[in-house]
Amino acid sequence: MKFFIDTANLDQIKEAQDLGILDGVTTNPSLMAKEGISGYDNIMKHYKFICDIVDGDVSAEVIATDLEGMIKEGEFLASLHPQIVVKVPVTKEGIKAIKYFSSKGIRTNCTLIFSAGQALLAAKAGATYVSPFIGRLDDISTNGVHLIAEIRMIYDNYGYETQILAASVRHTMHILQCAQIGADVVTSPLSAIMGLLKHPLTDSGLAQFLADHAKGNK
Ligand code: E4P
Repeated sequence: MKFFIDTANLDQIKEAQDLGILDGVTTNPSLMAKEGISGYDNIMKHYKFICDIVDGDVSAEVIATDLEGMIKEGEFLASLHPQIVVKVPVTKEGIKAIKYFSSKGIRTNCTLIFSAGQALLAAKAGATYVSPFIGRLDDISTNGVHLIAEIRMIYDNYGYETQILAASVRHTMHILQCAQIGADVVTSPLSAIMGLLKHPLTDSGLAQFLADHAKGNK
């Protein structure tokens, strides 16, 4: 399973990259705004900074909602850096844009997926990734992880190569559940990734080993 980090914060991206396990980054307009990145030129520069830190794919979202605008923006984003994947919302125009990008060899991440039907259409249009938002489904009393399982079954039935990129991940258990189901990628905050490391028996076991070593080497 690939690990992406879901942030536009350069320090957090560097920390995850330094851990040696990072496969990519996802951003969205809200995450950019959270870091105080605004204005077209600054946003484009920020994508390049992110690409300089990581080796893998970096999702950059289009703002336009019409087909022509999405194509113009997406082609520019893709030309910024070979690691850029164009993030497109799952609307009627978005599906047409994904089909177009796919025919031109431009990689896409179809975002704001909340149903298996949306994921099926995105795969049919040739999306590289689909991003089902599991945390936001949990927020409205719908099991987000079940959606990942549903999409996995459909894609496996037909051999779709579109990768399931579990998004809106809120905690460590989401990552584990997605791994059990067979999500191709999980994008999460750094805190959820670091949570995978934690175990009190590791801490107490290490403390004991160090204490015993110190006793024997007095
Ligand atoms: C996906 O790529 C989105 O950036 C993100 O995961 C949304 O997460 P949120 O629901 O925590 O905003």
